[in-house]
Amino acid sequence: MRILELFCGIGGLAAAIDGTGSMVTCAMDHDPAVLATYRHNHPEQQISRIDLSRVTPWQLATGRADLWWLSPPCQPYSVRGNRLDLQDPRSASLLRIMEVLERLPKEKLPPAIALENVPGFFQSQARERLTDILTARGYDLKEQLLCPTTLGVPMRRERYYLAASIQPLRTLQCRQRPQQIRPLSNYLDRRLDDDTPKELLLAKEDLARFAQGMSILDPDDQSAVATCFAASYGKTLMHSGAFLSCRQGARHFTPMEIARLLGLPGDFSFPPGLPLRRQWHQLGNSLSVDAVRSVLSLLPGFLPQ
Ligand SMILES: C[S@@+](CC[C@H](N)C(=O)[O-])C[C@H]1O[C@@H](n2cnc3c(N)ncnc32)[C@H](O)[C@@H]1O
Repeated sequence: MRILELFCGIGGLAAAIDGTGSMVTCAMDHDPAVLATYRHNHPEQQISRIDLSRVTPWQLATGRADLWWLSPPCQPYSVRGNRLDLQDPRSASLLRIMEVLERLPKEKLPPAIALENVPGFFQSQARERLTDILTARGYDLKEQLLCPTTLGVPMRRERYYLAASIQPLRTLQCRQRPQQIRPLSNYLDRRLDDDTPKELLLAKEDLARFAQGMSILDPDDQSAVATCFAASYGKTLMHSGAFLSCRQGARHFTPMEIARLLGLPGDFSFPPGLPLRRQWHQLGNSLSVDAVRSVLSLLPGFLPQ
């Protein structure tokens, strides 16, 4: 299967299809920093730096992809972004793609489309418009909120997912029962327990001031579940993600620990020299690879269920 990865970021979708026989025809994003990380991990991959609010039908349709995967900006639909929805200028790129989907001749439409966003997207005008267009163009749709915790991952990251297919979508037989959550310790760098690098540690004053409102987990707690890591992790302490208690007090999760929780492959890495905060930022915008696989399994011809 050939996939056009739109708003590709650091390549969460590319990681999800690794080893499945599917391929990304082109990965598109406007941010050179995330594209550098994408290229670092997928050097052979065709990548395009493009402002998708100006994308042409030709640019989207030319690779004749079987699936367009979209992870558009979520700020227009999130509480933090003030929920301006279609009035938010950051919706322009999704609006443009909707326009193309509305006008493209039927034979040029991709056989399947999938989209990921924050849960607030469910109530948005953007979602209403998109689902209206896809239904009018003959797609079968399934929408769901999915959290990696139901797939056994000890990290919350509930997201809205849409799967759309010209052929009838597959029905869910095996998705029924939530899986048992794996121990958080499976994802941690235990060598850091006694010797935590300074840049990961929380300042004593911050701990004294904010510890009450923060999620600080015991790395040995078998039932610990990390809160969602946001792009602001490393910049703000509250509501940006979880922390770990350690001998020196408390520490941040390392980028690689978060990458593991997101399901990125073991050899995932960042371009040398990328500051820690930028690494956290890029990961905070990425997606749960396990959840993506689960969504892809609904599309005929993609992954086994
Ligand atoms: C939620 S993130 C998606 C992250 C991606 N799924 C990943 O695995 O890293 C949204 C992405 O959309 C990109 N983006 C936002 N506006 C854009 C635009 N107008 N044109 C192209 N890319 C855009 C951002 O740079 C960001 O990488």
